[in-house]
Amino acid sequence: MTTTARAHTNIALIKYWGKRDEKLILPYTSSVSLTLDDFYTDTTVQFDPHLMADQFTLNGRPQSPDKISAFLDIVRAQAHSAQFAHVASVNHVPTAAGLASSASAYAALALAASREAGLQLAPRDLSRLARRGSGSASRSVFGGLAIWHRGDSDLTSFAEALPETKLPLRMVVVMVDAGQKKVSSRRLMANTVATSPYYPAWVKDNERAAGDMVKALAAADFTRIGELTEQSSARMHAAIFASDPAFTYFQPATLTVWHAVQTLRAQGVPAYATMDAGPNVKILTLAPAVAAVKAALPEFKDRLLVAGPGRAAKVLEEAQ
Ligand code: ADP
Ligand code: DP6
Ligand code: CO
Repeated sequence: MTTTARAHTNIALIKYWGKRDEKLILPYTSSVSLTLDDFYTDTTVQFDPHLMADQFTLNGRPQSPDKISAFLDIVRAQAHSAQFAHVASVNHVPTAAGLASSASAYAALALAASREAGLQLAPRDLSRLARRGSGSASRSVFGGLAIWHRGDSDLTSFAEALPETKLPLRMVVVMVDAGQKKVSSRRLMANTVATSPYYPAWVKDNERAAGDMVKALAAADFTRIGELTEQSSARMHAAIFASDPAFTYFQPATLTVWHAVQTLRAQGVPAYATMDAGPNVKILTLAPAVAAVKAALPEFKDRLLVAGPGRAAKVLEEAQ
């Protein structure tokens, strides 16, 4: 048997940044995200009684299996299995560039591996499993809008879908630099927690913002949704900048985009910037404003992608 699953990336409107339990990946705050249609990972898993170790290829190239093996150990324990697996994954998203490849990767792996191991996990349990691979992956189990409740244990920290919005949300992704980041999200967030004097303030503010975002989404109040989105990202990057050693993912072109977004807003265009662990900027806007947003970024015109809400993770194929 082999099982192939597809999961889409998601971009957090309210960010996850910092773990209070690094092994279980329990976050300090809840987070809220939009799953994107254009970026995804396809992963095929095959357990094989003849294998002596897990085998892993990414985009056709062999990789060290260490990280996925630790994750597969959780699946094996749940399924009472000792078999190793062939895992072949293809990213339709730049890897480790701050476009959430770890989110689509571990949501796809969680679904393909659990199904292949004979488990039929409910969405909440699949989210809890994906969380163990990468925190942001807990949200990529779901399509559209999702909230990851921070919880206080393995059982209570999971994501779930939020009601669909009638707003035509779009993310204009500006590829400032599609190269791999030099500092992983995992390492940098641990350092922010450990050394940034602004981190406790960020936790308090961001948890409040998660609740406010749920209300703003329910009210379809795009101005409020945009303001909360931009603030959560800006405040996360402020906490990162204040770490020891001081660090920022911003590149000069990143700031150019932020300024363009501010100018757009001053002209009455609904556009708000958000960034993850990398220099690329995502502009949250509404479908009718996409053309105006693109027109404001002529120097990036070959590096713009427009994404809309994506679907939930799903099994593509189960073959003998
Ligand atoms: P990103 O911003 O892309 O999420 P992260 O630093 O969070 O960057 O995660 C990147 C890491 O995620 C990679 O170094 C790799 O370990 C893992 N990863 C990315 N894509 C895959 C994949 N398709 N399958 C398994 N692991 C993956
Ligand atoms: C800035 O989920 O990549 O994108 O849990 O260590 O794998 P690990 O980190 P990861 O962190 C994502 C951070 C973020 C914000 C977000 O997606 O909420
Ligand atoms: Co990631």
